[in-house]
Amino acid sequence: MSSTDETIANLLREERRFAPPEDLAANANLSADAYEHAAKDREAFWAEQAERLSWDTKWDQVLDWSNPPFAKWYVGGKLNAAYNCVDRHVEAGKGDKVAIHWVGEPVDDTRDITYAELKDEVSKAANALTDLGVAAGDRVAIYMPMIPEAVVAMLACARIGAPHTVVFGGFSADALASRLDDCQAKVVVTADGGYRRGAASALKPAVDEALTKTDVVEKVLVVRRTGQDVAWNDDVDVWWHDVVDGASAEHTPEAFDSEHPLYVMYTSGTTGKPKGILHTTGGYLTGSAYTHHAVFDLKPDTDVYWCTADIGWVTGHSYIVYGPLANGVTQVLYEGTPDSPERGRWWKIVQDYKVTIFYTAPTAIRSFMKQGSEVPDRFDMSSLRILGSVGEPINPEAYVWYRHVVGGDRTPVVDTWWQTETGSILISPLPGVTHGKPGSAMTPIPGITADVVDDEGRSVPNGSGGYLVVTSPWPSMLRTIWGDDQRYVDTYWSRFKAQGYYFAGDGAKKDEDGDIWVLGRVDDVMNVSGHRLSTTEIESALVSHPKVAESAVVGATDPDTGQAVVAYVILREEAGDGGPEIVKELSDHVRTQIGPIAKPRQIMIVPELPKTRSGKIMRRLLRDVAEKREVGDTTTLADSTIMDLISAGQATST
Ligand code: WT7
Repeated sequence: MSSTDETIANLLREERRFAPPEDLAANANLSADAYEHAAKDREAFWAEQAERLSWDTKWDQVLDWSNPPFAKWYVGGKLNAAYNCVDRHVEAGKGDKVAIHWVGEPVDDTRDITYAELKDEVSKAANALTDLGVAAGDRVAIYMPMIPEAVVAMLACARIGAPHTVVFGGFSADALASRLDDCQAKVVVTADGGYRRGAASALKPAVDEALTKTDVVEKVLVVRRTGQDVAWNDDVDVWWHDVVDGASAEHTPEAFDSEHPLYVMYTSGTTGKPKGILHTTGGYLTGSAYTHHAVFDLKPDTDVYWCTADIGWVTGHSYIVYGPLANGVTQVLYEGTPDSPERGRWWKIVQDYKVTIFYTAPTAIRSFMKQGSEVPDRFDMSSLRILGSVGEPINPEAYVWYRHVVGGDRTPVVDTWWQTETGSILISPLPGVTHGKPGSAMTPIPGITADVVDDEGRSVPNGSGGYLVVTSPWPSMLRTIWGDDQRYVDTYWSRFKAQGYYFAGDGAKKDEDGDIWVLGRVDDVMNVSGHRLSTTEIESALVSHPKVAESAVVGATDPDTGQAVVAYVILREEAGDGGPEIVKELSDHVRTQIGPIAKPRQIMIVPELPKTRSGKIMRRLLRDVAEKREVGDTTTLADSTIMDLISAGQATST
C-alpha cells in the first residue's frame, strides 16, 4: 500500500461525528429540506437566490447554456455590485452600522467604518479613479496591504465597472509585472507599505520595479500607510490623500449588465503562465452572498464575522468583500500576522470584538496546534458559534483541535471546498443540518451538483475514489480565462467533455455514506499553506537562473504547510558545482521571480533527472525521495540507475 492509500484508509476510518447544536439547528438559515427544494428546480432556486440582491433591471432568463462551456447567468439583468454591497444598506437605515472593524497590526491602530462612511469613501474613490481616466471596462490592478483602502479600491472599481485585479502583496515585482501586462492594467492602486511581523514592509518599490518591465500602466495611486520614504515620479504617481480625500462623496452608481466583468484573479495552473480567472457581476455576487448566508448561517443583525484571508486571494474577494458586504454584516479586517506582537493576537481580536463566525485555513490551525492550547485558553472566545476552514483538506486532528480549543466544543466546523474558479463555496456541511465528520467536506450545498467519477466519467460507487467534478453550471462559475477562451475549454471542460462536467483538478473519495473527502490535486499543482503554486512555474523560475540547466519541482507533504516545494536542479557545466552559496542563490532567485511563498523548502543539486524513454520527468519518484520513502517502480525510466544517484545525494544533503 502506498503512503497516500494508507492516509486515505486512516481518514476513512475516522468515526467521530458532530451533530449541530440544537438551538443552532432550530434557528438555522437553511434546513435539511433545502437540498430537495433546490434539486426540484435548480433554475428557480437560483432565481430565488438572486433576489437577495437589488437589480436595476430584472433578468429575463436565469441561465443561458446554449453555448457551453460559456455560461450566461441572469441574462438581461442589470445591477451595480458596489451599490449592493454598500448603498442599499444605507438606504435601508443601516448607515450607522459598523461595516468594518479594522485592526492594524500595530496595537491600538484601529478604525471602525460604518456603512455610511464606506459609501462616502467608495464614492470618492470612484470619482477619483474616473478623474484619473479610468472608464468602464478598463482594468485596475490593486497591490495593497490589508487596510480599509484596499476594500474601498475594489468597490470603487466595481462601482464604475472597471474590473479589478488584486495581486497579493507578497508577490514579487516580476509576478506583478506579468499580471499587469496580461490584463493590460491602466492604473495600479498601492500603498507605501504595510505592517507585517512588527515592522513596516515596503510595497511601492515593487510597483516601481514592475513599471520598468511593462509600459501598460498610466497612473499609480498610492495610499500613505506607513509614512516610509518612497521614490516618486510626478508623471505617474498620485497620492490617494491628494485625489480621493478631496473628491466628491456624491456618485451615482451605473447599472451594468449581469455579465459585465467584475474582476480577474490570477491563479496557478499546470503550465508556467498564471491564468486570469474571470468573474462577472450578477452570478458571482449571487453565489458569494448566498453561500455566505447559507454556509455560515449568517445572522447579519447580530453576527460579527471574521475571515483571516488576504484580499489578494479569492477567499478575500468572496468572503471579505463581496459576500459579507452584500449581506450587510459587521466584520473584522486585520492587517497583520497571527503572532504579532504576541501569539495570542488573533484570539485577543476574537475576544475584543466578540467575533461569532471565524473563517481561516488549516495551515494556520496546525501552527496554533503546535503551540498548544495554553495561549488560546487565556482568552474568552465564548462568542464564537461557527468555525470555517478553507484552502486544503483539514486533517481530522486539526479539525478536532479547532473545534475543541477554539470553539469550546460548541461550534460546528464547516470544511468548505471551492476554488478561485468556482467563485464561491460548492461543497460544505451546513452548520444547522450536517453531522460533521472531521476531514470531510461532506456534500454539495443546495443548488450545486458535484460527483466523484472514474477515468471514463462514470460516478464511482460509495467507498471508492476518483476525480472531483461539478456536473451542472452554477452562477459564480468562472466565465473564461482572461484573453484565452481555448485554455478555458481545454483546462476545465475537455477532460469530461462527453459528460459536460467541470473538471476541478482534485482527487476525491466518496465514503460509505456518499460523503466527499477531497484528497488534493491530481495535476502538477501544489498547495502550499492553502496557496496554489504550479510546479512548472517554479521550474521556469529556476531555469531562468544562468547557472541552471534543468529543474524538476515537486510538492512534498509537510506537517506545517500541507505541501512544501522541493526542487531538484541540474547545473550548467560551466557553473561547476555552483559554489557554496548556490542553494541560497537559487532560493533567493525564486523569491524574486515569484515571491516568498514559492521559496523551496529544499533544493537538491543532482547530476540527472529521472525521465521516461519519451523524456517525461517522473515527478512521482522525486516525490518519494522528497518524502523520504522507498522509491517506487522505476522500470519505465530510461536509465534506472538515476534514482540511486539522487537518493544517495539526498542521504548526504541536509
Ligand atoms: C484548491 C483551490 C478556495 C479558496 C482557497 C484556495 C484546495 C480548497 C479545500 C478544502 C480540500 C481544498 C483544492 C482546490 N482546497 N479548499 N476544503 N478541502 N481541498 O483557492 O487557490 O483556487 O485553490 O484548493 O485542491 O482545488 P485556490
